[in-house]
Formats: sequence, structure tokens, C-alpha cells
Amino acid sequence: MKIGIFDSGFGGLTILDSLLRRLPQYDYLYLGDSARSPYGGRSLEIVHRFTREAVQWLFDEGCGLVVIACNTASALALQALRRRHPTVPILGVVRPGATAAALATRTGRIGVVATEATVQSGAYFAAIKEESPAVVVAERAASALVPLIESGELDSPRLDAAIGEVLAPLRSGPGSWSIDTLLLGCTHFPLIRAAFARCLGESVAVVDAAAAAAAGLADVVAV
Ligand code: DGL
Repeated sequence: MKIGIFDSGFGGLTILDSLLRRLPQYDYLYLGDSARSPYGGRSLEIVHRFTREAVQWLFDEGCGLVVIACNTASALALQALRRRHPTVPILGVVRPGATAAALATRTGRIGVVATEATVQSGAYFAAIKEESPAVVVAERAASALVPLIESGELDSPRLDAAIGEVLAPLRSGPGSWSIDTLLLGCTHFPLIRAAFARCLGESVAVVDAAAAAAAGLADVVAV
């Protein structure tokens, strides 16, 4: 079987990497819409249209299953695409990431970092609440980190400062959310996982939606 992977750009290669390690026996076709990325600041209608076109292309190329690796596209367009293609499996990253975060928390306080569009969609908030209604979810839009990562800045004082600003309301301390789990809800963020972990300290678990989705897909195709 050929598995299609779609992302707004190259960030979804983090999922492809996880999949190649877990499921090397399949063929993969990766579509990164670099010409129109980033998606994280775009409207619902545009993200729908771009994602619809991409998924259709992957099916036209013979993929028997499609993974929407882009968090923004998963958050905004997955449900509509499943209605459009009811007989073929389309997987997203939001549900697996939400489940992994809900399992990881001990104090019931989860932070999510994602693009503006993903945060505005409320998809992670809703999915985590469905998993575990009593959990407190605090989301932070962090699209500003994407261009830094794309320019190759994976370990620098400027990146640490930008991460510190994003995470400030989530960290422990008076008036903050004091999360014990951070969910990386953007394809690019696993690339700077170490910088997030450094900023939050050892007491906070960092959960990666891409790795969770890859593990979920391994379960689906193994059936
Ligand atoms: N792939 C996007 C996501 O995971 C990040 C980059 C973009 O904004 O297109 O949300």
C-alpha cells in the first residue's frame, strides 16, 4: 500500500521520519505545499480548499490512506475531508496528540503550542476535553516560531527568548497556568523539542503530536 502524507510544507517530514522508522515496509508519497505555506495564519475556507486539493491529489496518485501531518489542516479540515471521502482512511494528528497529552498529565494541567489558526479552531482544546473533561487546557499561538525554525535556527539565544515569551503564561509561578504537560501541536516544534524542554524544566512532560500520530497509524495499518 502507498501511504500519502500531506503537510503545508516540510515540517511534516517529522512524521514521515517517525513512520519510516516504525513502518518501513510501506511506500510513502509526501506532499508539502511549500508554494502556499504557511497555513497557520490563513482562514478556515482557504485551509479547507488547500487541504482538499492536496488530499485529492494524493488519492489520484494511488494512495490507499492519507495522513494529514499538518496540525493546522488537521484541526480545520479533517472532519470535512472525512465526510467527502467516507470510504478511505484519512488520519490527522490532533486526536492522537490530544490522547497522548491526556495520558501524560498527572496534575491535569496541559499546555498546547500551535499556530494561530489551530488555536483559534479550538480543536486541541475540544479533543483533550473529550479525552479527559476535568483537565485544564491552556493554548498558546506560536506561529512566530515557525519562520525561525525554517531559517535553521534550532538552537540559539533568539529562539530561547521567543520560546520563553510563548511559554511564560504556562510555566509555574504566581498567576500562571503551571502546566505539567506541554503538547507540541505544530509540525515544526519537534525540531526544537529540546529548547522547549530546557525552558520548562524537567518536571514538565513534552508530548509530540507527530510521534503520537505515527504510533496511532502503526496500530491502524497493523490491524
Ligand atoms: N504545518 C503547520 C502546522 O503543523 C505549521 C506551518 C504552517 O503554518 O503552515 O500547523
